Amino acid sequence: MEKTAELILDGKTYKLPIVEGTEQERAIDISSLRNQTGYITLDDGYGNTGSCKSQITFIDGEKGILRYRGIPIEELAEKSTFIEVAHLIIMGKLPNNTELRQFSDLLTQNELLDEAMKHHFEGFPAHAHPMAILSAMINAASCFHPELLTDQFRDSFVVQAARLLAKVRTIAAFAYRKSRGLPAIYPNPDLKYTANFLHMMFSLPNRDYELKPEVVKALDLIFLLHADHEQNCSTATVRMVASSRANLFASAAAGVCALWGPLHGGANQAVLEMLQEIHKAGDDGSRFIAAAKDKNSGKRLMGFGHRVYKNYDPRAKIIKKACDEVLTKLHINDPLLDIAKHLEEAALRDPYFVERKLYPNVDFYSGIIMRAIGIPVEMFTVMFAIGRMPGWIANYKEVMEDPTRIYRPRQIYTGATLNHYSSVKDRK
Ligand code: ACO
Repeated sequence: MEKTAELILDGKTYKLPIVEGTEQERAIDISSLRNQTGYITLDDGYGNTGSCKSQITFIDGEKGILRYRGIPIEELAEKSTFIEVAHLIIMGKLPNNTELRQFSDLLTQNELLDEAMKHHFEGFPAHAHPMAILSAMINAASCFHPELLTDQFRDSFVVQAARLLAKVRTIAAFAYRKSRGLPAIYPNPDLKYTANFLHMMFSLPNRDYELKPEVVKALDLIFLLHADHEQNCSTATVRMVASSRANLFASAAAGVCALWGPLHGGANQAVLEMLQEIHKAGDDGSRFIAAAKDKNSGKRLMGFGHRVYKNYDPRAKIIKKACDEVLTKLHINDPLLDIAKHLEEAALRDPYFVERKLYPNVDFYSGIIMRAIGIPVEMFTVMFAIGRMPGWIANYKEVMEDPTRIYRPRQIYTGATLNHYSSVKDRK
């Protein structure tokens, strides 16, 4: 028998269907509520709103569980690679040997940018934030692929997905080179995804960057851990834009903009800046924690807290361990790591953070790894964007495959009631 919820409004009882997911998550389907009752639901910040059904990622925030297509993040982090995981997320399955080779070949075939795009890079000022360049250039890239704008797009989806995944990495590296006044380094078709990115970032025209396996592995892990995270702000943005039937590149460019903010992807940059500020001030973290608890200070403990996780973010656990390992292998002794560990210990003992269930999130330690491997701080959020691309692509695909209506929330209007135009001379 179909389960329903009963709602009593103005003395009348309405039955609303219950929807249950494969992990027993339950929702009340209110899609007919307004038609039946004249009421809408109000959920500021969407904390309690399921905006879609999705088969990509499962999170249990209370238990600290994250799975891509059912596979625990811990297993993927230990055994897989970013490109395998990208295939898993976008195509719905881990690739066999042939599929992996075909997917890698597609990435290689699409890694170059149209030469005309180089002129666009020239137009940005040297101090431009690379997230602005990334978003603009992903959008610009759509102009070079008119098939994105046609119905044939569906037939070539895998190619388009690979194209975006491959090009975003090239754009990101070019943006960095431009910001440093360095010549662009073209991708090397013999290198795998993450190694190729590091090559484009750090090689010189006359000297190849030395690819250390521990560095490649650490960055690949960062990409993998960011690959999807269900309906976060940027992914929900991608789905919103996709629902208007905008093309894949335009939708992903919108995702980059949403990610940029310091409460979302921009937090990894903000964490490192916070740690540097604490270090510079000679604080062991105690003064900063006091400020973070004071609502009037305007400060927050960056890299702490999460809308969904009310337990330790499983990605943070993996990243913390990787951070220790990479720094040891590279013989780096970073005082910021000591400050971060001290902050974490202090916050996890502090009633303010305990009561609010604020734990370290994925961004708390990722910046220290990126700093250790030479990624400049302004590129941190760009790393997040590269990593999140498979999730955005897979969510875009779900929207396109499901004939849902355009996403269009309602509101409760709280402005002026009927008012009338007054001519300028009569206005106060
Ligand atoms: N430092 C201090 N206090 C915090 C923090 C923090 N990092 N995070 C939340 N709080 C407090 C809030 O002030 C609020 O206190 P109150 O109940 O006394 O008013 C309470 O905890 C609940 O916080 P909300 O802002 O309502 O939580 P929300 O779910 O809306 O926000 C968010 C989640 C944005 C991640 C928040 O915890 C935050 O700003 N963290 C710091 C930024 C950050 O690390 N962002 C990365 C998120 S993960 C990601 O995008 C990959």
